[in-house]
Amino acid sequence: MPPLAESRLVLGIESSCDEMAAAVVRGGREILSSVVSSQVEVHSPYGGVVPELASRDHARVVSQVTEEALKEAQIELSDLAGIAVTAGPGLVGSLLVGLSFAKALAYRSELPLVAVHHLAGHLAAAELADETLKAPYLGLVVSGGHTALYRVQAEGAPTLLGETRDDAVGEAFDKVAKLLGLGFPGGPAVSAAAQAGDPAAVDFPRPMSRKGGLDFSFSGLKTAVSLEVQRRGGQEALGDSGVADVAASFEAAAVDSLVARTRRALERESLDRVAVVGGVAANRVLRERLKAEGERRGFDAVFPPPSLCTDNAVMIAAAGAQGLARGERDGLSVSAFSRVPVGEAPWRAGPG
Ligand code: KG4
Ligand code: ZN
Repeated sequence: MPPLAESRLVLGIESSCDEMAAAVVRGGREILSSVVSSQVEVHSPYGGVVPELASRDHARVVSQVTEEALKEAQIELSDLAGIAVTAGPGLVGSLLVGLSFAKALAYRSELPLVAVHHLAGHLAAAELADETLKAPYLGLVVSGGHTALYRVQAEGAPTLLGETRDDAVGEAFDKVAKLLGLGFPGGPAVSAAAQAGDPAAVDFPRPMSRKGGLDFSFSGLKTAVSLEVQRRGGQEALGDSGVADVAASFEAAAVDSLVARTRRALERESLDRVAVVGGVAANRVLRERLKAEGERRGFDAVFPPPSLCTDNAVMIAAAGAQGLARGERDGLSVSAFSRVPVGEAPWRAGPG
């Protein structure tokens, strides 16, 4: 990664899903502020993110969240070296709120604007959290929208090694939370319920564990959980201990499948470090399992702190700082994209 002058301040803005966030980072590393406005209360009654409500709420808070980030960092707009904003992938309506605001801010303050890939942002959080993390390394991205393994290189875009063929692992956590009546957001709720349960209570399938590839699949596991709940007489009949056992057994199976693919990818790519990023990287069992496997098998698992695993703007500012240092700039015509492979920047017309 090219170094960025130590004193340079970058404002990051992130609004790709149901969090509106702004942050100020110095020199691509030092966090001066991080504000995240969550919409849990907005979406809770629906048990999942409602895109139309997400973008409306983002529009309501975007200016306030950004002002707070500048205030917390004790800086003015004019102190900034640039503005970084997520342009995709994500919900287009949500993305457009942050993007339009960032464009207006960049125009008004005559600051360079750089559009950031959301997953490049998640990966940047790991490099920010651990200064010794240097490419090449394996990147495991586990979030509500993505489950994928990348080889992160010193130069050029990360190479995709494997990804989910159906649901993302975070999505599976969210759906299982619904099946167990645990509410929204599902990941932390399943994880909390699982603590009191027995992970060996139900032997859920470890999807595709015998095939040699690096792809994932979570829809079969989700169906198995649904059948188990039915077999036990439905959600109401489970009781606290039933819920805990099913949650713990599901979590164990999901984590097993992430760990197995990660080990295989490390071996195949002759790498000894894996950076685990995205909302599910906040999961306690995944963190413990990968750390323990690493100690046993001689690899190192790097996790950002949980606050940098779930969506935040620090990671966007950090990735944006890298982009600015490489000379990347985006014009005011930059648009939002719902699906974008890592390493591609459809919002950037020409090079640089
Ligand atoms: O990265 P993120 O904040 O948003 C996306 O880009 O998708 O990830 C959100 C996902 C949700 O599916 C949420 O349930 C899951 O991450 N998640 C967790 C935990 N915390 C968040 N899953 C399992 N255990 C957790 N502790
Ligand atoms: Zn994310």
